[in-house]
Amino acid sequence: MMFCKKSTLVKTFLSFAILLASVSATFAQDAAEGETLFKNNCAACHNTSDEVLVGPGLKGIGERRPIEWIVKWVHNPQAVIASGDKYANDLYNKFNKAAMTPYPNFTDAQIKSIVAYVDASNAAPAAPAAGAAPAADGAAAPAAQSSGGMLEVLLVGLLIIMVLVLIALLSIVSTLGKITKGEASEDNPFMQRVGENLKAMAANSSVKTGILVLALLLGGKATIDAAYGVGIHQGYAPEQPIKFSHKLHAGQNQINCNYCHTGVYEGKGANVPSANICMNCHNAIKRESPEIQKIYRALENNEPIQWVRVHNLPDLAYFNHSQHTNVGGLECKNCHGEIEKMEVVEQRSSLTMGWCIDCHRETDVNAKGNAYYDKLVEVHNKDSKTPLKVQNIGGLECSKCHY
Ligand code: HEC
Ligand code: HEC
Ligand code: HEC
Ligand code: HEC
Ligand code: HEC
Ligand code: HEC
Repeated sequence: MMFCKKSTLVKTFLSFAILLASVSATFAQDAAEGETLFKNNCAACHNTSDEVLVGPGLKGIGERRPIEWIVKWVHNPQAVIASGDKYANDLYNKFNKAAMTPYPNFTDAQIKSIVAYVDASNAAPAAPAAGAAPAADGAAAPAAQSSGGMLEVLLVGLLIIMVLVLIALLSIVSTLGKITKGEASEDNPFMQRVGENLKAMAANSSVKTGILVLALLLGGKATIDAAYGVGIHQGYAPEQPIKFSHKLHAGQNQINCNYCHTGVYEGKGANVPSANICMNCHNAIKRESPEIQKIYRALENNEPIQWVRVHNLPDLAYFNHSQHTNVGGLECKNCHGEIEKMEVVEQRSSLTMGWCIDCHRETDVNAKGNAYYDKLVEVHNKDSKTPLKVQNIGGLECSKCHY
């Protein structure tokens, strides 16, 4: 009498494993798709937690509103408001009639995947609420990580269960095989047979292939997750055409930032220095250095040095340095970190809209010695106990930051 062969069993197991892996990959893709959509479109105004940003925190939105309502709303908020929907109108008024961007081209499935992502990032145990620690972080980054982590745990858990099932099955098959051959099973304890089967499995090439395939699937997922973080350039530190060191110049040699970044206290842009500014010193210092020779070559060829831009806001946003450094009295390190300690400049802040807004909510206006603010402060202090914040002078108004 013939029971199913071990190899057939292994094959069945493998196809089952691959099926499971692809099912969970699709599941992961759903939340992952939602994550990308959320970060690229919604994170500027919404947290996944219940923290208010420009709009309400979206935690629990799936329970708060029927999914059909959410779909209609995201497609065209103004239409829902105009239809007289009470909930929408109350919300709209509560948020001072801030108009949410419509997304008419999103499919229902895409909107559902965003809701799935919001749920997933809140379901994760001990997930730090997105935006709970606003200081210099992107709005949705922590929540995103925790949802990825949960799926990973799920996948690994499934894998472990499947491997245990396989071991049990193999050992049953081998026992049955031995029984049919008339061997006594008492002198061959169960655990010992499990051990033998494990050895046999390790030698079995289709099992090896299976494990490899699963490892690749998991690895692939991690890579995709990493790629989704790409929209935000926090940590970006490109190599520059000349090995210019801020640590050496601004740190050790204490050259003022605005010696080179001439616009930083007076203008919108800080400016990256031209080669002429370098020559103020390097026509005498370290002339023979190959790195300094590159400055000479740029000047001889009348070509600017091709510095790679590190910080870059999209064109739709307006940012002015002098307003922050000169009027606001902020230091470079509030936004850029300790540049004077960097060998290579790195973008330390996320530069997202949430980042700008968070600081405007928290930071007091620097009114000292600024007659322009005296009246404002006086009026504000009459009916408020908290000091005048940037948000009180219009720092949350769309038109201040958007052309
Ligand atoms: C420019 C800012 C902005 C963007 C971008 C934005 N929203 Fe909103 N959203 C708001 C505001 C503000 C409200 C509150 C209602 C109002 O004032 O219109 C809101 C309300 C909502 C609500 C209702 C929340 C509740 O508590 O009932 C949902 C759901 C929503 N938005 C989903 C989204 C989704 C999904 C995206 C991305 C595809 C998105 N929003 C993008 C600003 C925005
Ligand atoms: C001797 C000239 C010099 C001094 C002094 C200097 N920088 Fe720079 N800075 C540069 C040059 C050249 C670049 C472009 C190359 C690079 O990124 O390293 C640059 C780049 C930067 C950038 C990134 C620009 C981008 O592309 O986004 C920041 C931010 C910055 N500097 C801040 C500072 C701060 C803050 C200080 C003072 C603590 C300072 N710099 C002092 C020359 C200088
Ligand atoms: C105010 C003076 C000053 C200015 C302006 C200045 N540097 Fe320097 N730089 C120095 C000093 C001082 C050193 C250190 C020299 C030493 O190690 O002996 C140095 C060293 C360097 C080095 C390292 C050279 C080596 O091989 O060790 C590079 C590269 C460099 N500077 C590039 C630049 C560039 C590019 C600019 C213009 C954006 C610039 N520097 C502007 C003063 C200056
Ligand atoms: C309130 C935050 C904030 C402060 C404070 C700040 N920066 Fe910036 N900085 C930015 C942002 C945002 C950008 C990107 C601007 C863009 O892309 O339009 C930037 C860009 C730069 C650049 C790239 C060139 C440019 O003008 O876009 C340099 C250089 C720079 N900053 C230097 C400085 C120095 C030096 C100081 C201190 C004297 C400083 N920054 C203070 C936020 C800040
Ligand atoms: C570290 C805190 C901080 C960050 C980050 C920050 N700001 Fe500000 N911002 C301020 C302060 C403080 C003022 C008030 C300056 C003043 O007194 O006029 C201000 C004022 C402004 C104003 C003028 C508002 C008004 O009503 O006059 C604009 C516009 C602005 N910021 C844009 C931005 C943008 C865009 C970003 C993000 C790219 C940003 N800020 C990031 C602190 C910050
Ligand atoms: C303090 C400055 C500031 C204020 C106030 C502000 N924004 Fe933004 N906004 C930004 C910055 C900076 C970006 C670019 C962020 C990025 O590239 O991630 C942005 C991006 C956006 C985007 C593009 C979404 C994206 O992620 O590409 C939209 C739409 C938008 N803002 C709408 C609004 C509306 C509507 C309001 C008023 C309710 C508003 N913003 C208020 C600074 C601001």
